[in-house]
Amino acid sequence: GHSSAAGTGTILVAAPRGYCAGVDRAVDVVEKALDLYGPPVYVRKEIVHNKYVVESLSRRGAIFVQDTEQVPEGARVVFSAHGVSPQVRAVAQARNLATIDATCPLVTKVHREAVRFAKEDYDIILVGHEGHEEVEGTFGEAPEHIQVVGSPEEVDDVVVRDPSRVVWVSQTTLSVDETRETVDRLRERFPLLEDPPSDDICYATQNRQVAVKTIAPRADVMIVVGSANSSNSVRLVEVALESGAGVAHRVDKADELDPVWFQGASTVGLTSGASVPEVLVRDVVEWLQARGFPTVEEVRTETETITFALPRNLRAQMAASG
Ligand code: F3S
Repeated sequence: GHSSAAGTGTILVAAPRGYCAGVDRAVDVVEKALDLYGPPVYVRKEIVHNKYVVESLSRRGAIFVQDTEQVPEGARVVFSAHGVSPQVRAVAQARNLATIDATCPLVTKVHREAVRFAKEDYDIILVGHEGHEEVEGTFGEAPEHIQVVGSPEEVDDVVVRDPSRVVWVSQTTLSVDETRETVDRLRERFPLLEDPPSDDICYATQNRQVAVKTIAPRADVMIVVGSANSSNSVRLVEVALESGAGVAHRVDKADELDPVWFQGASTVGLTSGASVPEVLVRDVVEWLQARGFPTVEEVRTETETITFALPRNLRAQMAASG
């Protein structure tokens, strides 16, 4: 198209995008722990699902491990934003680890729901993606009561003991629309299905999807900055495509962009997942501005003000150390 050659293209930047309150807190936890105790600070799993964040913290002395068993006896370990099962906490205790829990409070909320419904002997349908760390953690709260359902199609395989005592809960970072489909199918099979007390898909996931839906119809190409293992980032690509973006690509950072994607495009939509630092978005904007998209327009659909306090034990030790 004429526009990219003539340099008259527009970048529509979604807002809200990037860091949510849970990610901001989790990254802060590792940084504060490094300041307070000095390296190394062990972190179980990626603190948040973003390559750049993990690499930056590694350079500062964080050591990321896959398993609590890999942390030396008596050392200090941070649990990631995605949460952990009671089994993981038990291993940490048995190994005498000092733990700092960076689990997002909105994930903890889902854990509490699962525990409560399990106590009341419900069959719990956990809508979410098998193998994702958050799902492993929530599932571990009540494995004998929970089954994981990953898509509307999987609803057909669900077997419950008593159809009048079934409740659904979910992963916090799902597609709002696909989850509604899954729950509708569940309700067709189990008309007495109960809803969780409040939305499990968190405010940040919802807000980022609404923003993408708003700009996608105007975007010839949609770029989502985020890592491949970031559930909410991958959902943003799907939502963009479903909402009318011509094409959508996920990239970890600007150097993964391919000029071919933008040939003939006059408007590029841009957003980032909840674990993505803003610097990575700025790099993409600069890359595009150097290639025929000089105009930047931010499209804001919501203003977020929520923040979470640091974990209590970390705050106490920070205060004690002055
Ligand atoms: Fe928490 Fe939602 Fe972020 S669950 S970590 S606020 S994506």
